[in-house]
Amino acid sequence: MYPTSRPRRLRSTAAMRGLVRETTVVARQLVLPVFVKKGATEAVPIPSMPGVVQHTRDSLRKAAAEAAGAGVGGIMLFGVPVTRDATGSGGIDPEGVLNTALRDVRAEVGDDIVIMADTCLDEFTDHGHCGLLDAAGRVGNDATLTVYGQMAVAQVEAGAHLVGPSGMMDGQVGAIRAALDAAGHHDAGILAYSAKYASAFYGPFREAVESQLSGDRLTYQQDPANAREALRETALDLAEGADIVMVKPAMSYLDVLRSVAEIADVPVAAYQVSGEYSMVEAAVARGWLDRRRTVLETLTSIRRAGADLVLTYWAVQAAGWLR
Ligand code: PBG
Repeated sequence: MYPTSRPRRLRSTAAMRGLVRETTVVARQLVLPVFVKKGATEAVPIPSMPGVVQHTRDSLRKAAAEAAGAGVGGIMLFGVPVTRDATGSGGIDPEGVLNTALRDVRAEVGDDIVIMADTCLDEFTDHGHCGLLDAAGRVGNDATLTVYGQMAVAQVEAGAHLVGPSGMMDGQVGAIRAALDAAGHHDAGILAYSAKYASAFYGPFREAVESQLSGDRLTYQQDPANAREALRETALDLAEGADIVMVKPAMSYLDVLRSVAEIADVPVAAYQVSGEYSMVEAAVARGWLDRRRTVLETLTSIRRAGADLVLTYWAVQAAGWLR
């Protein structure tokens, strides 16, 4: 008895496969994370992220123009300062590396690409934590919120269309929304890192931003074992006014991404983080994986799981493949 139901019929030609393909990945859905280093006179390669650099002001402007030209939807900026202090004051300083870079990029590309900023203290503090330390040396929640609000206002005034609170402090979205509104920035949006896990996959990023952290972030980032908590975090961020919610990392958290996408009534982002990039690049360098096929498969999987937009270090390269 031969089968009458034959799924292979719909795989018979490229045109047939194209006709029934459910998930698309297009350049405008991708966001390129970039690093800019204070005082750098030439772009500095990041050894654990082959192909990714710490930009100079100039090379960043060129990279932003290139991303916009490739049709990439957004660019997320991270600053690498030279001096750091206990309160991360360089993140608020309009002349700090990140705010300067935001002005540069906005001047270069205007509204052609959505400009985003990492709204977090870890790049700017000498202890490397995402918030202020209290007298006992713990990361204090509410004192940090005040600084996040000031940082977000500085970033928007420098040119960010969206601020991206990534420190996992409770109430950070509400505090930032209130600070932006008080400063009259009603149209600036918040891309909330809602479900952000304490992940080993951030390893290469720490090198990229020259992180000073010696401990861990287990008291504020989520436990990788917990999925339900991601829904609670997301619901809180939505209630506080998040314009976009994000799950991070991406590939090891596709189940979380799917369930967040089911409850969110705003766009959902996923961050394919540094370690996800490095892992594939390391295998590609050994000839073990095909870069193009692998990268496009990862992006398709992340979209299929429910992400509307994807932050990926391959954004420009992928945009080229997706033309
Ligand atoms: C915090 C922040 C981190 C990343 C993005 N924002 C690091 C961390 O939480 O330790 C990681 C991104 C990546 O690994 O690509 N400012």
